[in-house]
Amino acid sequence: MPAPHLIAPSLLAADFTRLKEDMEMVNRSEADWFHLDVMDGRFVPNITFGMFIIEAMAKIAQKPLDIHLMIVEPERYIEQFAKVQPEVITVHYEACPHLHRTLQQIKATGAKAGVALNPHTPVHVLEDILEDIDLVCLMSVNPGFGGQKFIYQSLSKTRKLRDMIEERNLSTRIEIDGGVGLQNAESLLQAGADVLVAGSSVFGASDPEAAIRALKAFSPMFG
Ligand code: DX5
Ligand code: ZN
Repeated sequence: MPAPHLIAPSLLAADFTRLKEDMEMVNRSEADWFHLDVMDGRFVPNITFGMFIIEAMAKIAQKPLDIHLMIVEPERYIEQFAKVQPEVITVHYEACPHLHRTLQQIKATGAKAGVALNPHTPVHVLEDILEDIDLVCLMSVNPGFGGQKFIYQSLSKTRKLRDMIEERNLSTRIEIDGGVGLQNAESLLQAGADVLVAGSSVFGASDPEAAIRALKAFSPMFG
């Protein structure tokens, strides 16, 4: 029996004028993690929030933090982000010329080490580093904005990566980020996803807590 999948609502789609209330909804819900999208206006064409806001979020969050760094030179900031003791810190493959070193740097802080791949980056680039990765985040939209359309090739990428992980008998998790909702959750889980990030499909729903419950209820075996 595979481990149950995790749901990580992305606060990017929350209402920032009532961030506390939205976070408390996630605390009450069946969600597993808070997904926090840090953007620098350089790696991606958008700027979101940094350490200062994340420290405030950490005071409200009663669930583990999943920090997704969409920034250039992430190695300069790992220790600062690690101060809130996140579950995972994810850096982009495309932003890390010394990925192996950066992953060790993340692990030294006690966080799990994640690597995100942009939609055009093939999974095989991770062949010789997969053993060192706790979580691979497959971007199923071009990073930078919430509410975009799911790129359907992400399904076959998920399958390929699942095969690579199984062949090596690893416990690396596969996270899917972008355009995820009730319409594709089941196929993604069947393809081998472990963690579903959901922004607009949760916070844009009339009942966000029910949307989380519905995403959590899918089963790749019986769904
Ligand atoms: C995109 C971010 C995603 C985003 C997902 O760059 O990494 O986490 O918030 O939002 P939705 O679920 O609306 O596509
Ligand atoms: Zn993200």
